[in-house]
Amino acid sequence: MSHAEEHQGTRRDFIYYVTAGAGAVAAGAAVWPLINQMNPSADVLALSSIRVDISGVQNGTQLVVLWQGKPVFIRSRTQKEIDEARAVKLSDLVDRTAENDNLPPSAEATDENRALSKDGTWLVTMGVCTHLGCVPNFGEGEYGGWFCPCHGSVYDTAGRIRKGPAPKNLHIPKVAFVDDTTIKLG
Ligand code: FES
Repeated sequence: MSHAEEHQGTRRDFIYYVTAGAGAVAAGAAVWPLINQMNPSADVLALSSIRVDISGVQNGTQLVVLWQGKPVFIRSRTQKEIDEARAVKLSDLVDRTAENDNLPPSAEATDENRALSKDGTWLVTMGVCTHLGCVPNFGEGEYGGWFCPCHGSVYDTAGRIRKGPAPKNLHIPKVAFVDDTTIKLG
C-alpha cells in the first residue's frame, strides 16, 4: 500500500464531531434542568466538566469533541501506535514533560504518563497545536501521529512534539474514566 493510500484510509476512518450536540457528548447541562437565571455561574459550572460516551470509537480512530470552546482528541490507538510511542527514548523528545494535568508538573513524557488507560489504548489530548493554536490532523507527518498544517509542527502517536515550531506536547486535560465506556473531561 502506498503512503497516499494509507493516508486516505486513515482519513476515511476519522470520526469528527465538532459540536457538543452531536449526540456523543452527555453535557453536564442535563443535570441542571432549571438553571437559575439569577446565578450566571450555573451554566459555566455545567460546562466545566462533560461526560463523553466512547463506546462507539473504533480502534484506530478518534472522536473529537468540543469542550470549553476547544477541540479535544479522544483516540483509541492501535497496538502499532502504542508500540511506536513506547519505543521512543525521552532523550529524543523536544518537550520531556508529560504536560498532563492528571500528574505532577514534573512527570516525564513517557507514553505511560500520557495514555489514559494502562494498556495504552486511550489517549486524550487537547486538539490545539502548542505553537499558535491550530487544530492538527491525525495521520499526517512522519511520526505517525498528528501534523499541524499551519506551520508544520509534527507530533507522534502520543501527541508529543517531535519537529517544527511548536514548543510543547499536546496538552492533556483533566480526564478520567467514569466507567468502561464513559470518560469525564474536567
Ligand atoms: S499553529 Fe501549529 S505549527 Fe503553528
